[in-house]
Amino acid sequence: MRLVILENAEAVADFACDYFVDQLKAQPNSILGLATGSSPVALYQRLIGANQRGEVSFKDVTSFNLDEYIGLAGDHAQSYRHFMNEKLFDHIDIDKARTHVPDGAAADPNAECVRYEKEIQAAGGIDLQLLGIGVNGHIGFNEPLSSLASRTRVKTLTKSTIKANSRYFDADEFQPTDAITTGIGTILDAKEVLLLATGATKAEAVRGCVEGPVSAACPASALQMHQHAVVVVDEEAASLLSMKEYAQWAEQRHIELEQA
Ligand code: F6R
Repeated sequence: MRLVILENAEAVADFACDYFVDQLKAQPNSILGLATGSSPVALYQRLIGANQRGEVSFKDVTSFNLDEYIGLAGDHAQSYRHFMNEKLFDHIDIDKARTHVPDGAAADPNAECVRYEKEIQAAGGIDLQLLGIGVNGHIGFNEPLSSLASRTRVKTLTKSTIKANSRYFDADEFQPTDAITTGIGTILDAKEVLLLATGATKAEAVRGCVEGPVSAACPASALQMHQHAVVVVDEEAASLLSMKEYAQWAEQRHIELEQA
């Protein structure tokens, strides 16, 4: 695992933007795995800027989002499809027909999970998977106790996730309690994984992800089993890591060796 500790959230977004731009320059028809939530927003803003300045193109990109709420159609303001259109897709040269988000309004959500998983595989698998991390260590909506081998399926959200995400819903608005999420096994199949975490509220989850035992109690710890996982955090999110100094030194060496 490569652990990159940067000064603040801005630096994390800059790093992630460079990482995506490099990926798209090396492979313009990349299959990207994308995430919603607050963690990727600053990255998406930077990618929009890079696209509008002509520095990178998404015209041959295919994307698959991690998850969607069950009960919300794509045109619902709180759906993850709506989020992606608003925060990224509407502002870049991507072909929307090649952007995929599970259908939260599918009549048969279990069948939708099977269809979505097959669609990812039929596209050739994900080249670069972007992740945030929940305060309880979830990735996608793979809550604690998720099988580390899980595939796309219906998952009931924990109270802590429902509470964390209630900030997006009005007090009297329906807030879903279940979601379709790609599995931990699906995520681990991606060729590369880039996880972003910022702020002190994520420090415990980051410790579990990076230094904890590989355990269903912290789904993000499964990334320890991935060959190309890069975890990018700010100082606050790194504050509970005991291996912080080593990680900073190793990253410095990584840069020096790349430049040599
Ligand atoms: C979003 C997702 C979630 C979020 C996580 C962190 O598609 O799959 O795992 O990445 O809940 O959310 P934020 O970034 O809002 O703290």
